[in-house]
Amino acid sequence: MEVIIANESHSKYAEIICETIAESAAVRGTGIARRTPEYITKKMVNGNAVIALDGDKFAGFCYIELWGHGKFVANSGLIVHPDYRGAGLAKKIKHKVFKHSRTKFPDAKVFSITTGLAVMKMNTDLGYKPVPFSELTDDPTFWDGCQTCKNYDVLTRTNRKMCLCTGMLYDPNDKSKEPIKIKEKVFNRLKQIKETMFLKKDKK
Ligand SMILES: CC(C)(COP(=O)(O)OP(=O)(O)OC[C@H]1O[C@@H](n2cnc3c(N)ncnc32)[C@H](O)[C@@H]1OP(=O)(O)O)[C@@H](O)C(=O)NCCC(=O)NCCS
Repeated sequence: MEVIIANESHSKYAEIICETIAESAAVRGTGIARRTPEYITKKMVNGNAVIALDGDKFAGFCYIELWGHGKFVANSGLIVHPDYRGAGLAKKIKHKVFKHSRTKFPDAKVFSITTGLAVMKMNTDLGYKPVPFSELTDDPTFWDGCQTCKNYDVLTRTNRKMCLCTGMLYDPNDKSKEPIKIKEKVFNRLKQIKETMFLKKDKK
């Protein structure tokens, strides 16, 4: 199995990707923003998508979208073909697309809206935090993408303040994610205490 940044040569998979996304949404009975093969192809051509292939068989996909003039990035349309589920493939795809987004758009906040537990888990592992919609992009084109979701009436009724999806955000400027720095003096003191403890143990 290879999980790679997609390019123009993968456009032949655009149709099956759209079909798999639509079929999975129908099975789950949840809402989904519909995508066209042309849209998926554009993502591939621009190097803004990740595809998983088992030989020449389509196994999974996810793409990057830019919102609010590049202030925000979303990793959208995550799909794993039913034949390849439950083996950690979505996790690999999410990691790859997240790393690619952070490299290509380092200053952008990364966000996600989802109703799925699997995606919530993966986002949490990557450092996303749940937030109200007010923390996400206010780019109307992003929210217009929800028009094809069957829950769109909820979003409009609440003036786009809330809906059935949970908003999640990775903020690169969030200092709480940085590893805690210990002063050298304190570190050496702790090291000394630890060594003394081991010495005492050995003597016993
Ligand atoms: C959701 C989906 C992408 C998961 O793909 P997958 O390759 O089976 O997922 P993984 O094996 O990588 O699992 C990743 C994590 O999600 C969990 N998970 C997977 N499917 C799950 C499910 N249906 N319900 C709850 N948790 C699930 C796994 O246990 C794992 O968590 P862990 O690391 O704590 O063990 C896949 O089922 C799918 O394509 N579904 C339809 C489309 C969809 O729902 N996309 C998300 C749109 S927001």
